Amino acid sequence: MKDHILEKLKQYGQFHIIEHLKSLTEEEHKSFLNTLTTLDMDLVFNLFNQYKREKKGQDVLNILPAKVITLPVTDKEKIYRERARQIGERLLRENRVAVLIVAGGQGTRLGFEGPKGTFPISPIKGKSFFQLFSEQIKALSKKYSARIPLIIMTSEENDNETRSFFKENHFFSLKEDEVLFFKQGMLPSLTLSGELVLKGRYELATNPDGHGGSLKAIYESGILKRLISNGFTELFYCQVDNPLVKIADPVFLGYHSLEGAEVSTKVVRRRSIDEKVGVYVSVNGKDAIIEYSDMDKKYMEAVDEKGDIVYWAGNTAIHVFSLYFIERLNNHGFVLPYHRAKKKLEIKTDGNANETDVLKFETFVFDAIPFAKKACAVEVIREEEFSPVKNREGIDSPETAHKDMCMMFKRWLESAGAKVKPDINVEISPLFALECTDFVKKFNATNMVIEQDIYLGE
Ligand code: UD1
Repeated sequence: MKDHILEKLKQYGQFHIIEHLKSLTEEEHKSFLNTLTTLDMDLVFNLFNQYKREKKGQDVLNILPAKVITLPVTDKEKIYRERARQIGERLLRENRVAVLIVAGGQGTRLGFEGPKGTFPISPIKGKSFFQLFSEQIKALSKKYSARIPLIIMTSEENDNETRSFFKENHFFSLKEDEVLFFKQGMLPSLTLSGELVLKGRYELATNPDGHGGSLKAIYESGILKRLISNGFTELFYCQVDNPLVKIADPVFLGYHSLEGAEVSTKVVRRRSIDEKVGVYVSVNGKDAIIEYSDMDKKYMEAVDEKGDIVYWAGNTAIHVFSLYFIERLNNHGFVLPYHRAKKKLEIKTDGNANETDVLKFETFVFDAIPFAKKACAVEVIREEEFSPVKNREGIDSPETAHKDMCMMFKRWLESAGAKVKPDINVEISPLFALECTDFVKKFNATNMVIEQDIYLGE
């Protein structure tokens, strides 16, 4: 094993690492080599060489707005949506749906130390993202008498902390063996001239391999195979950062199934031409998502004669994947392309901290879409389903998420007949009601005036 690694380091010209290895104690040496064995050197150096050879502006892409199932307006569309709900509910009842939450990132942009899923986000009780999602799964399992495994993708950086958090909280009353964890892969970061970077005496600078890595790691961990052999067919996928997400939404699952799609995506109307969301489009005749930072300005900023955004479908990062599709993406080696990004890295040597630019390589989960035989996009109402928490303050922050949650629950109370004072906090537990229609059935608030913060729990 040791020789094999040294050979690889030589092959890729990493002589500074070989030299460094010589200065380590036996223990340190062993530990360093162990880490090196877990990293895919061939992949990362091949990606680097590709990047070096790359010529800009070669591909001519034919980009058009994609076909999207928009919010139902006509009777026909409303009937189709109702059918979708029934089909989705059937999928849940038949125990065919599992849930995956990608939570490999830390709350760095949020200024939070620790896994983002543990961040307290609900407006009154301060429940974490993980608690809110777990409670939804508990409520769904009860409503549909269903078994819905919750699968969490962690990363090397936060796996232990995430698992402990669930353990300390007794898995939020889910069955322990129905909450599964797997770690995403890591890749070494490289200097701009292609060298591995030492982060400490026996540690290399590495980065998680992107959320697209979830589709690789769920396969490699054996979880995918287990799900398939237990009769599951669909995977509801979302990011950890959106407290409004409707986990395993039956309507969405139903559209996915009725459309015969292998992957489906929820989209919202882009708020502005510079909103930082990916855009759901058609590229050379196939559905795809282009990240805002990669999309040509002429498309990003295109508006029609009425002033409406032409490429209007913003990516919420909520998907359904058919399990066989994920298997196919892996069968002959993982097919998603790698993106490259520059990031600043702080390196401490001899007590001094230096900042240096490094390259990281990662895959994006939505790059799976063009590989699907059929993909489907469904428009949803932003105020009800999408309020991501990315920043410490301002746009897409805990403050905006609180506001959006309170406003949504306030609308539920009003639908049940209550008059609600503005500026109060409202929180309704998923264990009380999963959606407005369930809430109205359960809570008659005719003539009720709500003047103080209100929490409705189980
Ligand atoms: C992402 C999407 C964007 C979409 C927006 C919706 C990308 C490149 N962009 O932007 O199209 O409109 O969300 O909110 O994805 N994660 C991992 N492992 C990783 C990297 C990320 O688990 O290696 C998880 C994070 O924990 C987080 C999520 O993926 O939950 C989002 O990743 P991030 O890179 O922050 O993308 P955004 O800029 O939020």
